[in-house]
Amino acid sequence: MADNNVNSSSPAENQNHSSDETINPITNQSEVSIDAIAQKVQESMSISKRHKFWETQPVGQFKDVGNPTLPEGPIEPPTPLSEVKQEPYNLPGPYEWITCDMDTEEMCAEVYNLLANNYVEDDENMFRFNYSKDFLQWALRPPGYYRSWHIGVRVKSSKKLVAFITGVPAKIRAKDTIVNMAEINFLCVHKKLRSKRLAPVMIKEVTRRVHMENIWQAAYTAGVVLPTPISTCQYWHRSLNPKKLIDVGFSRLGARMTMSRTIKLYKLPDSPITPGFRKMELHDVPAVTRLLKEYLKQFIVAPDFDENDVEHWLLPKEDVVDSFLVESSETHDVTDFCSFYTLPSTILGNQNYSTLKAAYSYYNVSTKTPMLQLMNDALIVAKKKGYDVFNALDVMENEGILKELKFGPVRYREIQHLKTIIWKKCSDSSSCLGGVVVDNLQTQNQHRLEDSISCATFASNV
Ligand SMILES: CC(C)(COP(=O)(O)OP(=O)(O)OC[C@H]1O[C@@H](n2cnc3c(N)ncnc32)[C@H](O)[C@@H]1OP(=O)(O)O)[C@@H](O)C(=O)NCCC(=O)NCCS
Repeated sequence: MADNNVNSSSPAENQNHSSDETINPITNQSEVSIDAIAQKVQESMSISKRHKFWETQPVGQFKDVGNPTLPEGPIEPPTPLSEVKQEPYNLPGPYEWITCDMDTEEMCAEVYNLLANNYVEDDENMFRFNYSKDFLQWALRPPGYYRSWHIGVRVKSSKKLVAFITGVPAKIRAKDTIVNMAEINFLCVHKKLRSKRLAPVMIKEVTRRVHMENIWQAAYTAGVVLPTPISTCQYWHRSLNPKKLIDVGFSRLGARMTMSRTIKLYKLPDSPITPGFRKMELHDVPAVTRLLKEYLKQFIVAPDFDENDVEHWLLPKEDVVDSFLVESSETHDVTDFCSFYTLPSTILGNQNYSTLKAAYSYYNVSTKTPMLQLMNDALIVAKKKGYDVFNALDVMENEGILKELKFGPVRYREIQHLKTIIWKKCSDSSSCLGGVVVDNLQTQNQHRLEDSISCATFASNV
C-alpha cells in the first residue's frame, strides 16, 4: 500500500538550496535524513514495543531478527482447505461485512468516498491520497482477481461504508521460488472508528478469504513499522511545478533561494530527448514483457509477470498509468521502458488549490538508454501532462539517480516499510527488491529468506 506510504504525498525536504547548491541541492539534507530514518527504524524495531495483534500472526517477530538458525521458507505450512474457517469473523453488533462489487459505479463511488475522506494523510494533515475511481478499478481488478477479496464493513442501520480492505492475486518470486500471494492494500477504517481494534479483524478476515482460495502467503507495505519488514524504502520527490508546491506547503523555498531561481532550477526541456521514445501500445506487450522479465531477474524478490499482467498493469490508461518505451529505428527492438502511475492528493484547507497532481515512478528498464536519461524523459512527459510532482521510491536502480535528477527525500517519519509475512531474515538494502507497490502494499504469511531485502515494493501492485 506499501502505503506507500503514503506518506508519500508529503512535503519534501529538498528546498534548502544555497546559491552554490544548484547542481545537487539536496545532498546534505538527504544524508541527515537517512541517518534519521535509520535511527527511527531502530527505535521502532525495539523489541520492547508490543504488538498485541501482530505477535499472534505468522510473521517474522522482532525477537527473531538476526537469528541465523531459522530456516528459509514459509513460517506456517498451508492448512488443509477443509480446516479453513468457513464463516466470517465476528464484527461488533452494529456492523456487517459486505463484498464490494467494484464493477458497479455505485460501489466504486462508495469506496472512493470512504478513501477520499479517511485514507492516508501526511503527518501534518495537509494532504490526503485521492485515488480516482478508475485507479481503484485498475488496482483491484487485475487478471484472476477475486471479488471476495474486496471487503467492506457497513453500519447495519444506515448502510454506510465505514471500513475497507482488499487483496489481489500476484505471483511473487522470492529467490528461485515463485509463490502465489495476495497483495493486501487499501486498509482503511473511518476516522470515527479508529483505535477500536477493527483493523485486526479486517486483516484476519481478508486472510481467511485468501486461505479459502488455497493461497497462504501475502505481501503488504505500511508507513508504520510492524513485525517485521523484509525491506524498507522511502519516497523521494522531484518538483515539476515548484511554485505551486511551495504555495501549498508541500515544499519550502530554500534559504537564499528566490522563487524565480527555484523555478529555473527545476525547469525541464519541452520534449523527451531520447530518439525513438514513444508511448507504449497494445502490440508492444510481448516485447515489454520480455524486457521486464529479464530485468527483474536481478532482484531477490520481484513479481513474476506474464503478458496478461503486463497488459493490465502497464498498458497506458488515461490518468491511471502511463508507459513509454524506446524503439530502435534500425532494428525496431524495444530497448528501454519507463512508466508512472497517477495518484493525486487532496490539499486540505488551502483556499487556492484543492488537488496536488502527483506521478509515481513505476517500472523502468534500461538496456541501451542510460537510466538517468530515461527517467529524465519520464519527468519531461509528466511535466508536459500537468503533474506538479514526480515521486519515486529508492528501490531497484532508482537510488543512484534520484539526487542527480533533483529529487529530494521525504522526512524520516514518512519512511515506508515492506514486510512479508512469509519470509524473514533480511538485511537492509532496497536494491534487492524489484518492484514498486502502488501505494501501501502488504504481505501475509511470511517466509524466511537467507538474505535480507530491504525495501521495496513489488511492482505489480497497487
Ligand atoms: C491503518 C488503520 C486502518 C488502523 O486502524 P486503527 O483504528 O488505527 O487501529 P486498530 O485499533 O483497529 O488496530 C490496531 C492494530 O492494527 C495495526 N495496524 C495499524 N496500522 C496498520 C497497517 N497499516 N497495516 C497493518 N496493521 C496495522 C496496529 O499495529 C495494531 O496492531 P498491534 O497491536 O499488533 O500493533 C487506520 O488508522 C486508518 O484507516 N488509517 C488511514 C489509512 C491508512 O493509513 N491505511 C494503512 C495504509 S498502510
